[in-house]
Amino acid sequence: MINALGLSERLRQSTEALHLQAERSGYIRKILRKQASREGYGLFLRSLEPAYAALEQALVKQGRHDDLLRFDWVALARHTTILGDLSALANNDWLTVFALLPEAERYAKRITHIQEEAPHRLLGHAYVRYIGDLSGGQIVKAILGQAPGLSAGMLKFYDFEGIDDADTFKASFREGLDRIGENTAKSDDIIDEALIAFQHNIDLSLAVDAQMTSG
Ligand code: HEM
Repeated sequence: MINALGLSERLRQSTEALHLQAERSGYIRKILRKQASREGYGLFLRSLEPAYAALEQALVKQGRHDDLLRFDWVALARHTTILGDLSALANNDWLTVFALLPEAERYAKRITHIQEEAPHRLLGHAYVRYIGDLSGGQIVKAILGQAPGLSAGMLKFYDFEGIDDADTFKASFREGLDRIGENTAKSDDIIDEALIAFQHNIDLSLAVDAQMTSG
């Protein structure tokens, strides 16, 4: 089927329903309602850590020889900031304090799985997390600063020091996506993978919420 929209717009439209669902479910919903705790947010961030580790290793490795993956991954990289935030949240003992949930491992495994056989699919994950972090992430940061009142040293994950203007950066990221083309099978794969990435995020948010509710 001919599709006149660019990949970035197709991604936005295709993931809109899951984006709404992500905002309205699990621990993310709790954060937005100012019901998060330091411990719960710590578990949430700890659950994202394996996925970012897998994604960033994969993007550096595959980006060296795959033209489709030539984006500014250095400016976007979050893993180091996650480790710093986790240390601050758990007084340097995060590996003991925060459990590794199976949903967190599954998310990371999906990324590792696609990186060799379909590296272009990594763009679906990068879009969901990084463009999300540059967008809604900034709202989340402000809320977490209010309730439970986390300090700036626990929220570095949301600070992109290599990016002066988030809107300009997002626009150029979207242009990069659009250059990949409108109707190629690769574009369809990237959209499919973004949907998978959103579902992993929803599963993870539900699992963190369940863990915190069960105590
Ligand atoms: C915590 C609640 C959330 C809020 C309040 C929120 C808010 C927003 C807002 C306001 C935008 C538009 C920003 C812009 O166009 O510059 C946006 C875009 C986006 N968000 Fe979220 N978001 C949330 C959760 C999430 C989650 C959990 C994910 C994925 C893990 C996500 C991924 C995205 C993506 C990929 C976009 C870009 C959409 C596009 O292509 O234009 N968001 N979000």
